Amino acid sequence: MLDGKKTLFSGMQATGNLTLGNYLGALKNWVTISDEYNCFYSVVDMHSITVRQDPATLRKRARILLTLYLAAGLDPEKNCIYYQSHVSAHGELAWILNCFTYMGELNRMTQFKDKSAKHADNINAGLFTYPVLMAADILLYQADVVPVGIDQMQHLEITRDIAGRFNSIYGDVFTIPEVYLGKVGAKIMSLQDPSKKMSKSDENPNGSIYLMDDKDTIMRKCKRAVTDSVGMIRYSDDQPGVKNLIEIYRACTGKSVDEVVKEFDGKGYGDFKTAVGEVVAAVLIPLQEEQARLMADKAYIDGIIKGNAEKAGYYANKTLRKVQKKIGFPERVRQ
Ligand code: TRP
Repeated sequence: MLDGKKTLFSGMQATGNLTLGNYLGALKNWVTISDEYNCFYSVVDMHSITVRQDPATLRKRARILLTLYLAAGLDPEKNCIYYQSHVSAHGELAWILNCFTYMGELNRMTQFKDKSAKHADNINAGLFTYPVLMAADILLYQADVVPVGIDQMQHLEITRDIAGRFNSIYGDVFTIPEVYLGKVGAKIMSLQDPSKKMSKSDENPNGSIYLMDDKDTIMRKCKRAVTDSVGMIRYSDDQPGVKNLIEIYRACTGKSVDEVVKEFDGKGYGDFKTAVGEVVAAVLIPLQEEQARLMADKAYIDGIIKGNAEKAGYYANKTLRKVQKKIGFPERVRQ
């Protein structure tokens, strides 16, 4: 792009309720790195329908997610924040890339295997080609870097493979994206089973703190968090529950692990859990208030949605036209 900055693309699905893990592990980090790159942050609603959705709920959650991006501090003038479904080039490029992706490659995707086991009554073709749509998202913007969690690494790898295959046939059309390995966000585990990642699809609601939980709920969930019988606040793999709470406290306050351990030296788990609840609430309650304020400002949000979709469409269509030309689609007639 013109200002010499590299391009970054990432997206989140508006399915389920976002958790503290999504915020501390991804969204907060997006804000930190947003100055260094030209960023495209999409609400990937087209990916969401690979699993059956209630239309009104999907629409509402997509808008909540978009306003959460803003509430978290992403400046919509500097970052392109938009709905995937508003830029039709995503679907068009995905179709083309489908023709450059092998069944065998898609069959190896662990997320496809997991999701088909979970939704055995709806193993649709969209679920199968989900990674191809993701490749289209990334490649349309010629993204240099993509911050993703470990669960999406395989999808980034296939994106690189598809792009490389296309380039080897047609010349340098796509930038080959790298995984973003800078300041990695905090990895937050379930409060009920610290061997598992905190997840929006966890069946036990006490395992996750949702971004929209009120203070009482936050405090209750922290107090119920699983710990151990050691009785000391130490950052150790032998005490995964306590380690996770230290991680949460650290990420919410910006303190170092050593500082946190020192601060709670000699204190009991009860006091520590209360303190964790307090710092989580101190992060989430203002975020919720800002999100609610933005949500109420309909004209402002609509303006951002429209303007940013146009901006995204401009870049996406530039790549799409190039691809269409390379593969031999007829030129458009201009009058
Ligand atoms: N599949 C990603 C997830 O569920 C979301 C996503 C869609 C994405 N397209 C993307 C992430 C492109 C990074 C880049 O987390």
